[in-house]
Amino acid sequence: MKIPFFDYPALFRLYEAEVVEAFLSAGRRGAFIMQSDLTDFEAQLAKYTGAKHAIGMADGTMALLIGLRAAGIGKGDEVIVPSHTFVASAAAIHHAGATPVLADCGRDHLIDAASIRARIGKRTKAIMPVQLNGRVADMDPILAIADEHGLRIIEDSCQALGATYKGRQAGTFGAAGAFSFYPSKTLGTFGDGGAMITNDDDIAEHAQLLRDHGRGKSGKVEAWGYNSRLDNIQAAILNVKFRHYDKEVARRRAIAGQYDQRLRDLPQLQLPPPPVEGGVHFDIFQNYELEAERRDELKAYLAENGVGTLIQWGGQTIHQFERLGLAAKAADVPYTERMTSRFIMLPMNVSVDDASVAYICDKIRKFYGAA
Ligand SMILES: Cc1ncc(COP(=O)(O)O)c(C=O)c1O
Repeated sequence: MKIPFFDYPALFRLYEAEVVEAFLSAGRRGAFIMQSDLTDFEAQLAKYTGAKHAIGMADGTMALLIGLRAAGIGKGDEVIVPSHTFVASAAAIHHAGATPVLADCGRDHLIDAASIRARIGKRTKAIMPVQLNGRVADMDPILAIADEHGLRIIEDSCQALGATYKGRQAGTFGAAGAFSFYPSKTLGTFGDGGAMITNDDDIAEHAQLLRDHGRGKSGKVEAWGYNSRLDNIQAAILNVKFRHYDKEVARRRAIAGQYDQRLRDLPQLQLPPPPVEGGVHFDIFQNYELEAERRDELKAYLAENGVGTLIQWGGQTIHQFERLGLAAKAADVPYTERMTSRFIMLPMNVSVDDASVAYICDKIRKFYGAA
């Protein structure tokens, strides 16, 4: 069997006719920048997440940067962000003029509240929880810390569209939330794309102008802005993909359930929490990330047997990127440090069928000598 970690052509074939139709329609209307496909998508995203405003952006990184700036975070401020995230989370903080301060994660691979508390200083202005792998962090203690210290929350929910915590959608816990529509994301387009959501009218208005060269509704330039609009064609593709989104999330949760059932007895693995109905968390499984003993050998063995796996961030978390000059040491983020030699992701997307999941799990069991 050959099971690639990610099958991009299969992803395109899935809704090819509908996507081509959307492309032709936008093309024939000459609808390329800030047109109705974009406003339709923004309205859909706002409705889906329950946020008052959704604003399309060029990508998730810009959605984070603009979210930070629109929420008033900038020079001299510190923002606490987990070390186990894509460098884009910290880069957005840096480019907003602030300093990323790295926190540890826990067994769920999400930012740890005790570590946030330990990293708070005089200049701390905000927390950026990263809702990694399609799961929302344990937000109650994080909200309590933010409240106690008067900190803003800017959520990196780039990997978590539709995930909920106590019924509340990822991206809606703070001043602003960011989403990425990079092709491999659960809601992926065929290029780059992103969006910011907020319930705050002022942040929304500021973000609208920052994404469009600082131009306000009258066309007058009111701030130094960016060219960071979500392309209308990408929005048209996203409108097609959105129609199938709930069904795709259900399939991902079913795959995760099968991995859990077939692998949970192996002591060499630490699996992510399985999908549950009606619990505190509703996870959408952007990724199926686990920890494994002899991780690199397992990866090589699976590759020999035709199974593609991926180690996020190339196996390095942000505190290990020495050239970025961040002050965090391994001792500040002990769980993350230990985990970097153990974490790995199994194939998780809608083109993985049940037979493939069974095959992958059989190979893993064989590798560890389990029946
Ligand atoms: C956790 C996280 N943050 C930020 C980003 C940045 O999103 P984008 O690639 O759309 O800029 C991504 C995705 O790539 C991500 O996974």
